[in-house]
This record gives sequence, structure tokens and C-alpha cells, in this order.
Amino acid sequence: MKKLERILSRIDGKSYKAYKDLQGQTFHFEDFDMIFSYIQGDPFASPSMISVKIPSGNARFPRESFEGKVRNRATADHINRTMDRMIGRSRKGKKGSGKSGMIVIDTCGQEILQKSSVVINGDFVEARLYVGLPAFGRKIAGKKAWEMLFRDIPAIVEQGLKFSNYNAKDFWKHVHSVEDQAFMRESLSSRGLVAFIADGSILPRISGVNQRPLCSSEAVAFRSPPSLCIEMETPNVGTVSGMGIPEGITLIAGGGYHGKSTLLRALERGVYDHIPGDGRERVVSLPKAVKIRAEDGRRVEGVNISPFINNLPLGKDTVHFCSDEASGSTSQAANIMEAVEIGSDLLLLDEDTSATNFMIRDTRMQRLVAKEREPITPFVDKVRQLYNEKGISTVIVMGGSGDYFDVADNIIMMDDFLPLDVTCEARKIASENLTGRSKEGGGSFGEITPRVPLPESIDPEKGRKVKIKARGNENIQFGYESIKLGYVEQIVHDSQTRAIGDIIYYALRNKIIDEKNTLSEIVWKLEDVLDNYGIDEISPFGNNPVGNHARPRPFEIAAAINRLRTLEVEQKV
Ligand SMILES: Nc1ncnc2c1ncn2[C@@H]1O[C@H](COP(=O)(O)OP(=O)(O)OP(=O)(O)O)[C@@H](O)[C@H]1O
Ligand SMILES: [Mg+2]
Repeated sequence: MKKLERILSRIDGKSYKAYKDLQGQTFHFEDFDMIFSYIQGDPFASPSMISVKIPSGNARFPRESFEGKVRNRATADHINRTMDRMIGRSRKGKKGSGKSGMIVIDTCGQEILQKSSVVINGDFVEARLYVGLPAFGRKIAGKKAWEMLFRDIPAIVEQGLKFSNYNAKDFWKHVHSVEDQAFMRESLSSRGLVAFIADGSILPRISGVNQRPLCSSEAVAFRSPPSLCIEMETPNVGTVSGMGIPEGITLIAGGGYHGKSTLLRALERGVYDHIPGDGRERVVSLPKAVKIRAEDGRRVEGVNISPFINNLPLGKDTVHFCSDEASGSTSQAANIMEAVEIGSDLLLLDEDTSATNFMIRDTRMQRLVAKEREPITPFVDKVRQLYNEKGISTVIVMGGSGDYFDVADNIIMMDDFLPLDVTCEARKIASENLTGRSKEGGGSFGEITPRVPLPESIDPEKGRKVKIKARGNENIQFGYESIKLGYVEQIVHDSQTRAIGDIIYYALRNKIIDEKNTLSEIVWKLEDVLDNYGIDEISPFGNNPVGNHARPRPFEIAAAINRLRTLEVEQKV
């Protein structure tokens, strides 16, 4: 502390660059350490990173709250949220020009992700803060810096990193809830289920741009139809009842505005855990569930989309399909084939975001446009093969066509925001009203062709410098390229996007992308890296960690690589 005070008084009033003296230094405060990992170049540049690290003996979080991966993630997340609140409370306003005086910790949304913002283990708790070191103009504001480092941050540490200042009941509720969700998700496959939605869940959100739950007076709470109602065991709250969606093909039908897409969106996000009070904290789906949509305009590189698309005009290849601007149907076909290539076992489709001609082709259209003139084999003729041959289930929202009655195992109808099991009724209707369609799916699903990305086609450099930057959760600048992820709907946090950019760079540096590994091998190797070494391993700054990474799934890493416009692949046959 004394040393830091001396440095501050020495550099007070000097040019901003003098702050750089602090970089890499650790200072011992009374009961924690302050580590200056990165110092910004000027008051307007990206903020500095300061870690505060407190020994376990002073933080006193119960050991059983951070042992084991699930509890560790839950506890770190709770600390992250608490720190964020404490920072908001203690902030005393701006302390000069540019970012002077700013103190932030990575934000948290409704999902509980594995993040790099907080580390907790048997030795210490560390929180990584981004701060704007104070200046007036470009001159160091020593007194303001003193206030920040010696008053504001210690107050935040006191309130945010010491268990004695936590509400133990809320804390354990958070940890137990995450543990229950992980447990329920884990038990899905052994029970032959692809998803579970507990009774009482609140699925609708405040708005399209606000993921918080719709207030309970306006929302209709979820209630399972009796025939699909099951009970789930949890380690902490005993048995929970709700709707189990079995493996196979599930159709979600129902009138417009009756809550179909809202249900599907809850399933999409059910791959993640949610905070208590979110309304979806007892909605879980298989971890490898992938949302599929049409995405015309996206780039597609060397994907075998021939199970769905053949005989394109001008003899365009669909076994090794490339396009700088895929169409609605070809982009949706590519999205499915890519998800299957990485190993998805559950596809989630919504008619609202699907290409109509990819989903259905009715009798009249079959008569008008002969099979030989139509490149697309519609999904309705493939979805069964996907399940029977590859074990891949599908949940489809489809209110516009009853043709799916013939292929669905279960048909749920959303009615005034509540699900009804209408399987028998729909079957009866289907047998009384034959579609007259001819099946176009052929004898089997077709080939899934693994692809090997070529490292030289993935260049993180711009000029001579590595340039990787996330812009929101929809865009990664990668070298000269911009990777658009706006339609990759299961990315839920900016920090995941940031991590994806750095993970691709990591895979290049460490020769995981090496001209031999397939894309699937690459992303599952990266999953192992994250499992075994933690998220700090992928920091682009070597031993200096990043405080705002959140873990993405292999599917979203692959999605980013697939959308890189320079990507070249070789198919492995
Ligand atoms: N359980 C619920 N309680 C209250 N409001 C809900 C509930 N579920 C959905 N909503 C709201 O109802 C509206 C329509 O929902 P949604 O978009 O899911 O309908 P949909 O069946 O997909 O409609 P469409 O067929 O037009 O696509 C949305 O504003 C949504 O937030
Ligand atoms: Mg809808």
C-alpha cells in the first residue's frame, strides 16, 4: 500500500504514460492484493484491468460452495453479480476526462455462464475489474486515483468479496438452483427426453430486447398437459413436475399469437442455466440442442447439403456447396448439416424463421413443379430419417401446415399460452384427410461429410497486427474480416462473442486448426481445453488473463468459423 501511495504521488500531474509504471505490479492491501494486469495508454483508450485477489481465509466462502465445476460456476456468477451491484452503489461519478473513474466488472444476463470475471478456489477469490485510471486532460490526477484505489475499490472488495456480507439464503438459493438445473439437464437423455419444462415456469420475456420475465400478472404460467407430465428429481428441491418432451419428432402447433415461438425460445436457451426468478430456471434442454434457421446472405464453405438440395441451376455442386450469398433454403440446409457435423442431437426449428420451401412441399406444388425441377427435398421428408438413422431429434414450431402430422411422434398445441397434447386428434385427422403427397426423401438421409478447415484461410492479422474484437454479441472483427453472428441465436452474451474470437486465435496458435483436424475435432478439442485448463487458457495475452470472457459451446465456435468469409475447407472423404 505504501509503495503504491509513493508511486501515485510521484506520478501525480505527469503525463498519462507514467501510469504504465504500475503495469504488472502487485500491491498488498490489508486483506487483499491489487494486481495491475493491464494499464491503458490514455484516458480514452480501452480501460485498464485491475484484479483484486483476496485469500480464502479472508473471503470465507464455504468450501462446498465452490468445489465441483457446477457449484464453482454458480458461486463465481453470484459473486460477479454482487460485485456489479456493489460497484453501482459505490460509484462516486466521473473522476476527470475520458473513462476516468470508471469501475466495471463484466455484466451478467439471465444465463449463468462460465466466465473469467471471477475466479474462486481453495486459495483465493479473484475479481477482475476494468477501470479508467483518472486524468485531467492527459495529465495523471493523482488524488482522484488515490480515492479510487484506496477508498472505492477496497469498499467494493469489502462488500463484494466477503461472504460475511452476503445474504446466505439468497446465495445458496442461487447455487442450489444452478445445481438442480445441471442435474435435470444431465438426466434428460437417460429418460429418453430432449427437454423438460417445469410447471409454473414463466416463458414470455418483457420484450424482444429485454430478456427479463414478463411480470407475473400478465404472464400465463406453464402447465403440462397430463399425458406429457412427468416428475424430475433434483438434488435440492426434491421432485419437480412438468412437461417432458420425448426424443423423436415433436410438433408445436397452435394459433397465431398463442405462444409457440416463446416456448421454442425457452428451449433454445434451455442449454444454459438461468438465475432464480428468471422464470426459465426449471426449463432444460439437451446440451447439444441447436437452433436452426434460414439465414440468406450467409457464406457457406464446402458443406455437403446434398441430403436436402440437389440439381441446382447451372449444375452447381451441392456435395461441396460453396456460396458467398446462400439463399433461404440452402442456408437453412447448411445450418442443419453443420450442426449435425458437430454432433447436435436436437434441432429446434420455428416456421417464423424458416424458409417455407425448405419446410414443406404440398401435393399441388408437387404436381406443378416436378421433383426433377425442384432442387429441394423438404425437411418434412427428411426429419424422420434424421431421427431413425442418426438419432437426431427435432422440435418444430409449425402452425401453417398439417403435413407434419404424418411424421411427428408428439403434437403439442399451444392454446392461450398453454400446451395441449393433441397427438391422437391430429393422427385421426391425418388418417381421415390423406395429403396425397408423394414422399421425396429417398431411401436414406444421405452423407454427412466432415470438413477440415485450412489454417492459412483463417487470418487474425490486420496489417501486421492481430486484430480480434467483438462488437456486441453479433459481430467479431477478425483480421480484415467481420464475422456476422446475428443469426446465431444461442449466443447470449457479448463476452461469449469475445471469447469465440480469442478461441479461434488460440486454436491457430496451438495448431488445433492444423490442416488435419476436422471442424468437429477442433471444437471438441477446444471444449477439452476449456474443461481441463479453464477459460483463462485462451487469453490472447499469455499469462495475463482477460476479465470478460464467457464460455461458448462448441456449436457457436463452429458457427463463427463457418461464417468467416475467407474460410477454405477440404472435405474428408
Ligand atoms: N405464457 C404466456 N403468457 C403471456 N404472454 C405470453 C405467453 N407466451 C407468450 N406470450 C406473449 O404472446 C405473444 C405471442 O407469442 P409468440 O410469439 O410465442 O406467439 P406465436 O404462437 O409464435 O405466434 P405466431 O404464430 O404469430 O408466430 C408474445 O408477445 C409473447 O411474449
Ligand atoms: Mg411465432
